[in-house]
Amino acid sequence: MLNIQSLTKRYNRKQILNNLSFSVLPGEVIGLVGENGAGKSTLLRLLATIDKPNKGSITLFDYSYKKHRKEIRKQIGYVPQDIAIWDELTVKENMLFFEKLAYTNKTSEQLRQLCLEMNLDKWDVPVKTLSGGMKRKLNIAISLIHDPTILLLDEPTVGIDLKSKIEIGSYLLKQAKEHNRIILYTSHDMDEIKHLCDRVICIGNDLFYKEILKNSGKEVISF
Ligand SMILES: Nc1ncnc2c1ncn2[C@@H]1O[C@H](COP(=O)(O)OP(=O)(O)OP(=O)(O)O)[C@@H](O)[C@H]1O
Ligand SMILES: [Mg+2]
Repeated sequence: MLNIQSLTKRYNRKQILNNLSFSVLPGEVIGLVGENGAGKSTLLRLLATIDKPNKGSITLFDYSYKKHRKEIRKQIGYVPQDIAIWDELTVKENMLFFEKLAYTNKTSEQLRQLCLEMNLDKWDVPVKTLSGGMKRKLNIAISLIHDPTILLLDEPTVGIDLKSKIEIGSYLLKQAKEHNRIILYTSHDMDEIKHLCDRVICIGNDLFYKEILKNSGKEVISF
């Protein structure tokens, strides 16, 4: 279980996240919503150990983010808002490169399979020749190389066509439900949020989102 207690983050003197507390169980998909600048990416960066909170604690299966950073990192798959892959390298080379960095040992064939599961069939072509949606799929495939227990995805479906969006969505659902992974992801697409998420966390306590999600049957937690 992921447990977040009294999490607070300020940049300079600006309060971004104020006293967030919630827990997420394995297999749960949590949507993070809120207006631009609300703090969604900030929360994901804290959970990805890229940034540190000013106050509060995070634990993952009883491992503390403060004390067991190295152990925690092995459990995390993170896809940042800006795609982070090597443009000049091929899909295969990217997968092999990140496999070397990961705490795992996967064959080239296993890595290829991971891409194919996401309907990314390009392999020996430079990443710069891929479309934006294909790059996103590759970035998600990279985040799964080391079988993380928690997947943090910052707008994984932004700017991509409806078919790919549905493919990515159902792939993520499968990752949560069949592999028992915790998924936290941000999106501005409320239909997608309603469809994919078990619960929704609304950052910025904005009534606008609460209203939209009111009759969706989803539990909404506001901060
Ligand atoms: N490294 C930083 N230094 C200073 N301020 C920052 C830093 N990172 C983010 N911020 C500020 O924190 C606030 C929250 O930013 P964040 O990127 O988390 O928002 P967001 O909810 O992800 O927005 P969007 O929907 O536009 O992606 C913004 O006001 C932003 O300017
Ligand atoms: Mg963001």
